[in-house]
Amino acid sequence: MSRELRLGVNIDHVATIRNARGGEHPDPVRAAHAAQAAGADGITAHLREDRRHITDRDIDRLMVEIGLPLNLEMAATEEMLEIALRHRPHAACIVPERREERTTEGGLDADGHREALGPMIARLSGDGIRVSLFIEPTERQVAAAIELGAPVVEFHTGRYAHRDGAARTEELKRIADCAALAAKNGIEPHAGHGLTFDNVVPVAAIPQIRELNIGHFLVGEALFTGLEQSVRKMRELMDAAR
Ligand code: PXP
Repeated sequence: MSRELRLGVNIDHVATIRNARGGEHPDPVRAAHAAQAAGADGITAHLREDRRHITDRDIDRLMVEIGLPLNLEMAATEEMLEIALRHRPHAACIVPERREERTTEGGLDADGHREALGPMIARLSGDGIRVSLFIEPTERQVAAAIELGAPVVEFHTGRYAHRDGAARTEELKRIADCAALAAKNGIEPHAGHGLTFDNVVPVAAIPQIRELNIGHFLVGEALFTGLEQSVRKMRELMDAAR
């Protein structure tokens, strides 16, 4: 098995800071270039229904101005499907979305939404977009992803990141078991949400996991050290864990 572990840098919160004042600064595309220079393998951006951070114009620019694959995070709506099909990013990660949430607070219920997800996965895949389902690490959700024919799942690591002690260890085991189950069934496992310098290593050490998507911590840390430095350090921790 390849030991490669890719890092996708989520630049949503560069746009959050920009939008606090309107205008152009700080520019998420510039952040994407800095992340690339520091060893990122891909850029992740979530175009939310309310456009609270990334905007349609950001997606237009990211598609043409960056030299890395774009992973577009999107809700399972007709509007987002149309946007994804128009841009054809490298990957589309289907996430749950509720307007009132502060961030993506839990995984997609792939099991409960098979009927809606099936045609959406087929249309995205049919246009050559690599579809990922952002799910909780449970057997039920992995089974649904297998049945739906998703090539990739991304495990929501929020519960792992926000717990301590035995509860964290237990959640890590669930992620590892589900990664093994997914890989055994031909699905590439990714992971993300709430990962930091302090908690990334055990997740990065799960051998089947091939990609981590990390944003909020890296952008916050960039205030103190610069984005290149924060991405470089995350990359080093991930590499050391393999
Ligand atoms: N992966 C997915 C699917 C997400 O929705 C998010 C949050 O936008 C992330 C990864 C990154 O999470 P964080 O910003 O907490 O690192």
